[in-house]
Amino acid sequence: MAASLLLVSSILISCLAASCHGVTLSSLQKTLIVFVTASPSPGQVLKAGEDSITLTWSFNNSFPGRTDSAYKTVRVKLCFAPISQQDRAWRKTEDNLVKDKTCQYKIVAKPYSPSNNTFSWTVQRDVPTGTYFVRAYAYNSADEEVAYGQTTNAHKTNNLFQVKAISGRHVSLDIASICFSAFSIVSLFGFFLLEKRGAKHSQEN
Ligand SMILES: *[C@@H]1O[C@H](CO)[C@@H](O)[C@H](O)[C@H]1NC(C)=O
Ligand SMILES: *[C@@H]1O[C@H](CO)[C@@H](O)[C@H](O)[C@H]1NC(C)=O
Repeated sequence: MAASLLLVSSILISCLAASCHGVTLSSLQKTLIVFVTASPSPGQVLKAGEDSITLTWSFNNSFPGRTDSAYKTVRVKLCFAPISQQDRAWRKTEDNLVKDKTCQYKIVAKPYSPSNNTFSWTVQRDVPTGTYFVRAYAYNSADEEVAYGQTTNAHKTNNLFQVKAISGRHVSLDIASICFSAFSIVSLFGFFLLEKRGAKHSQEN
């Protein structure tokens, strides 16, 4: 009883202290410009574990006022497009960034710089088949999101790209070949045994 009370209160305290309330995406300034500048070819399906994309990001100089003095770091993430979120609560978009599950794959984290940021990223093997975009968040010194930018528009309808996961076929092929080798060893042994027996038999006769 006391233990569970302690647990509940410590959860409450950590909620109050930290970001349990969370920053909302809609409260952030959209001041970063993010582009996929190179992928194997436009419209190509990227193979996880093999293909890469090159990203660039910068501060939008047309944004009124120079608001980036508090930016300390940038984290770039791979995010699910709406079509890959359908019927999947575990990828759901929430305005509260603590609860948001849109951007689950970390691409890179770097100190903030207003321009000349480029990064080439190989799509990691744990990325599932789906349709994606890239988003960059700027963080202040308290590690709170303060701004963002993304490769797609606000409705997430353009400049999306597709990833194809490593198919299960390789795995099943591997299993098939292991089974086959095991089978061949067993049958080889069986053959030897039969052969031996046959030899014995003919000797006895
Ligand atoms: C840059 O900011 C201006 C002013 O807010 C905006 O009109 C423009 O669309 C932004 N550019 C990009 C690429 O987001
Ligand atoms: C960015 O790159 C351009 C050309 O490569 C260079 O002229 C410029 O000084 C660089 N800016 C910064 C802030 O490093």
